[in-house]
Amino acid sequence: MKRSVLGENELPRSWYNIAADLPEPLRPPLDPGTGKPIGPEQLAAIFPMPLLEQEMSAEREIAIPEPVLDVYAMWRPTPLIRAVRLEQHLGTPAKIFYKYEGASPPGSHKPNTAVAQAYYNKISGIERLATETGAGQWGSALAFACSLFDMALKVYMVRVSYEQKPYRRSLIQTWGGEIVPSPSPDTPAGRQVLEATPDSPGSLGIAISEAVQDAAHRDDTNYSLGSVLNHVLLHQTVIGLEAQRQFRDFGLEPDVVIGCVGGGSNFGGIALPYVREKIHGKPLRAIAVEPEACPSITRGHYHYDFGDTAQTTPLMAMHTLGHSFVPPGIHAGGLRYHGMAPLISHLVELDLVEPQAPAQLDCFAAAVTFARTEGVIPAPETAHAVQAAIAEAERCKREGSEETILFGFSGHGFFDMSAYDAYFAEKLTNYQLPEDALARAWEAIRELPKP
Ligand SMILES: Cc1ncc(COP(=O)(O)O)c(C=O)c1O
Repeated sequence: MKRSVLGENELPRSWYNIAADLPEPLRPPLDPGTGKPIGPEQLAAIFPMPLLEQEMSAEREIAIPEPVLDVYAMWRPTPLIRAVRLEQHLGTPAKIFYKYEGASPPGSHKPNTAVAQAYYNKISGIERLATETGAGQWGSALAFACSLFDMALKVYMVRVSYEQKPYRRSLIQTWGGEIVPSPSPDTPAGRQVLEATPDSPGSLGIAISEAVQDAAHRDDTNYSLGSVLNHVLLHQTVIGLEAQRQFRDFGLEPDVVIGCVGGGSNFGGIALPYVREKIHGKPLRAIAVEPEACPSITRGHYHYDFGDTAQTTPLMAMHTLGHSFVPPGIHAGGLRYHGMAPLISHLVELDLVEPQAPAQLDCFAAAVTFARTEGVIPAPETAHAVQAAIAEAERCKREGSEETILFGFSGHGFFDMSAYDAYFAEKLTNYQLPEDALARAWEAIRELPKP
């Protein structure tokens, strides 16, 4: 058996909230002015109440509303596929599985939360959303979701990606979204960066500031974030819940669960239902793979920091490189975030999740091996998970170990072919960040509270 494809009637009916099973509670977000934990009312200007309730909920299961299930059923459950040809190519005794989130209309896992967020905003009377996007996967997913719920959308797209990935721009426009490169002249945060650095490549931290300011200044508009927050990871757990059900068809269970991490949502989505089992004693490894060029977990600090460059968000306890850090313009634009989801950071601190940070060229080499054996072309972000899965399968070969490896195939790379072109033309490089580049951004936050 090579694939498990479930029927629509087997879609999970609830999301899984790991807050109910954490051995130690998550550190709360803090008000930067008072240093005290913030309550939902302080965020109500930019988020709808149902999402704020989910953000702070301790309920283990949260029902997925029917209108959201109805949209999920357009492409979910997604297939769980055994990468038999890759296994044969590697000559490994390991079994490698991937959960294919490229099956959604925008081509990634991002619509799992985009649809839910658009829905909750719509029923809360909001007509327009503002958001940031890196490589355009999130922006296109939210544009898709807004078109289904008849809402307007403005997307601030990180400038380097706006130039590298023109077709994701077109996707956003096709689904009816308005899009500008960030930093943009449209917001105070964008204008400030442009004055200081007119040729700034932009970053997710800057684009988040712009989108938050946009939402904060308009009554009809809320802000929507594609990763990092608890409710985003919650919505993504539909991935891991489906995988658990599908592994029963194979009569197997994964020993290693792998996902790439930008803000942490696809990894959280596939891994959190398994981390729950680990908390309850099951021996399994969960590996979060970040880029060498933006190593928030492996080289950052676990510290309170702002989620954005202009310091408009609450302080979150997370692994961070510092909110002023602007990562090099790697092609995995969705992984260029200075911080990490507080939930994933907390799990790393509890030794429930292990981080890795492979180099860009190794990830592209792995993605090409995958494409030439399995046929599917991974997004550059997904290539990080592919790299880690291949490395684990090679370890199994050395050790003669028949482990089962599961990785999250977070998105296809059909709109990232310029990155592959650059790789084949040998124009891509690795980025081993010098200590002083990291030290400068860290200096700017060391006075903030310690978790
Ligand atoms: C295909 C794909 N995978 C992974 C990511 C990383 O984001 P996250 O860590 O929230 O899953 C992105 C972000 O844009 C993405 O587009």
